[in-house]
Amino acid sequence: MKKWYAVIGDPISHSLSPLMHDTWFKENGIDATFIPIHVEPSNLKQAFESLQTLGVSGFNVTLPHKQAIIPLLDGVDDTASMMDAVNTVVRGGKLYKGSNTDGDGFVESLLTTESSPDSKVLLIGAGGAARGISFALKRRGFGDVTITNRTHRRAEELADESGSKSMVKAEAEKKLGDFDIIIQTTSVGLAENEALPISLQNIRAGTLAADIVYNPIKTPFLKVAEEKGCKTLNGVGMFVYQGAIAFEKWTGLKPDTDNMIQMITEKLGGTYVNR
Ligand code: ATR
Repeated sequence: MKKWYAVIGDPISHSLSPLMHDTWFKENGIDATFIPIHVEPSNLKQAFESLQTLGVSGFNVTLPHKQAIIPLLDGVDDTASMMDAVNTVVRGGKLYKGSNTDGDGFVESLLTTESSPDSKVLLIGAGGAARGISFALKRRGFGDVTITNRTHRRAEELADESGSKSMVKAEAEKKLGDFDIIIQTTSVGLAENEALPISLQNIRAGTLAADIVYNPIKTPFLKVAEEKGCKTLNGVGMFVYQGAIAFEKWTGLKPDTDNMIQMITEKLGGTYVNR
């Protein structure tokens, strides 16, 4: 029988996950489909029960349900418990387990730039996204990670938990030239002409500037970094790799990420890595 997978969120109409997973199902000869489902917060429990009743094989969870889904599940793995957020639910028999592939998805994308784990990394932001990335960087052997954030206390707390360092924003701005990789994880930059979360005045040419945002494909942060002679990495890779890790958990197969990055990039009308 045809299998089906889903993504639940509010809003959900913008999601590129159905296009991505349906393409991978086709490429891998899997008889399955992937459906976006609009679920308002007050309906989450009911929606999850309906998904189970109708036999969903697995699903993604996006905003604003990434935390609220946790108590409804039969358990979560380390990636989700560290982040206190779930983006992927895997079915095993009658059990539904939560996982989080966002942090590892980002690091996979970063590794396509041939960045070395010896690099000095500056992470801007201390919210959920920064949390996932800081833990994933550590897991993948990046030993020199510094976190800076508008609210310094949150940077300190995350640094303590993830075994990273913290630095107040003004100092990070002064010492920007010391870092090899600068990762922008805040929600700033979704809108054109928004102020940057950090001044890039002292950034060094050749530094890799990475943003987790993929729409717009070139955020104000990446635009300024590019003008300063930096290499840039937008959020398309993170999006594709978080999906690829989820796909592998669901099907046991590794999908083609290179073609997908190309396809999603074209859909968004931009270029992926500028090296
Ligand atoms: P997410 O889960 O998407 O990371 P979050 O937990 O709300 O969302 O965290 C948002 C991050 O963006 C935080 O690091 C936040 O900084 P504060 O901890 O000081 O709130 C950062 N952020 C949001 N708006 C910002 C702005 N205008 N300038 C700088 N940082 C901003």
